[in-house]
Amino acid sequence: MNVLVIGNGGREHAILLALKKSKRVEKLYCMKGNAGTAQIAENVNVDYMDIPAVLAFAEAHPEIDYYVVAPDDPLAIGLVDALLGIGKRCFGPTKDAAIIEASKAFSKELMQKYGIPTAKSAIFSDYDKALSYIEEQGAPIVLKADGLALGKGVLICNTIEDARSGLKQIMLDKAFGSAGNKIVIEECMQGLKYTPGEEVSVLSFTDGKTIVPMITSCDHKRAKDGDKGLNTGGMGTFSPCPFWTKELENEVMEKIMLPTVKAMNAEGRTFKGCLYFGLMRTKDGMKVVEYNSRFGDPETQVVLPMLKTDLMDIFEAVTDGTLDKINIEWEDGACVCVVLASGGYPEKYAKGKEITIGDIGDVQLVHAGTAIKDGKLVTSGGRVLGVVAKGKTVDEARQKAYKAVDNINWDGKQYRTDIGIKYRLG
Ligand code: AMP
Ligand code: GLY
Repeated sequence: MNVLVIGNGGREHAILLALKKSKRVEKLYCMKGNAGTAQIAENVNVDYMDIPAVLAFAEAHPEIDYYVVAPDDPLAIGLVDALLGIGKRCFGPTKDAAIIEASKAFSKELMQKYGIPTAKSAIFSDYDKALSYIEEQGAPIVLKADGLALGKGVLICNTIEDARSGLKQIMLDKAFGSAGNKIVIEECMQGLKYTPGEEVSVLSFTDGKTIVPMITSCDHKRAKDGDKGLNTGGMGTFSPCPFWTKELENEVMEKIMLPTVKAMNAEGRTFKGCLYFGLMRTKDGMKVVEYNSRFGDPETQVVLPMLKTDLMDIFEAVTDGTLDKINIEWEDGACVCVVLASGGYPEKYAKGKEITIGDIGDVQLVHAGTAIKDGKLVTSGGRVLGVVAKGKTVDEARQKAYKAVDNINWDGKQYRTDIGIKYRLG
């Protein structure tokens, strides 16, 4: 089979690396890709947010058998619907189902209606009503712009002043554009043992009937060590989550995962693809922080390397509705991804810095913001590379990853030194 993956970042490179191991995949393509994807796939220079352009490319390339739509924005505008509409086989939810991520108001209403555990919340389109609700609830309180905002539309407000100014930013100043036309205001959840709360990402495969969780992982969203600094797209991940147990898995399957699949079916929005559950362990049990309609970035970088089953077989089972027929297996051990970013990220940063790579042992470099310029590998984005190492334990994987990190350099390289050490008390 010839397979095309849509997207430009580390997640897409990680998906391509997993597909490259498939016995059934012959040629890989990436739209648009980066310097890493170019090593294993043919990069296609078409803007994937331009649906007519993608369809024209697909019509002109009947040799491509299967499309994987990885990022949230093309899912939200219905790229999967469009590809299915011209008879292409495709991995990813349709627009109706991708709304589970694209509208936080939708997902909160869904959870409320179907009794899926999550933070208490209220939804407003009116600024004054939202303000009186905030005054009534007090701090700490969480404000979320309804729409997609590059992962930045969530404000955790520790004081009522922060909440007032956050509300103004989102609803009046439109800091996140039209994503802030509606706002979700939530109770700030507390973790069972850690402050702020302990979070786990559970990605799953679902064909709308069966849902199969992947191995767990933990993200590090803040820019600096000790969860300090600004929120980013994710500065590193590790797998598995140290506080995860069989009991938690059963609880999550019964109270969250199956009810979500059933709720989406009942709403006439059957979800097929990768459904991502961002969860928090609280004193009242596991609760949903957010849903994503796609693989996480950088979670995918530590989850897919541990997959033993052929990823193409799983993708096809999701498309064909036969996920119940396949056995999905994972390696034992652990995996760590340390993200190397451009100096200044997530704020202003320089691009075009030459990257030098020395001896990195057997770690896998997953490219995010890289390009080739005048024959040299250079930085081209905020998050540049993921350094992915496996080990028997998270510590072993961590050591390997950080040893390699020392031998990868460019002017302004920025990273966290504490990926993989949180939630150690279980
Ligand atoms: P989201 O973009 O919805 O994943 O939110 C970003 C981050 O904000 C999450 O990963 C959590 O760390 C935090 N967060 C979101 N909602 C809540 C909440 N209700 N209580 C506490 N923390 C939250
Ligand atoms: N790592 C979080 C996300 O992909 O949204």
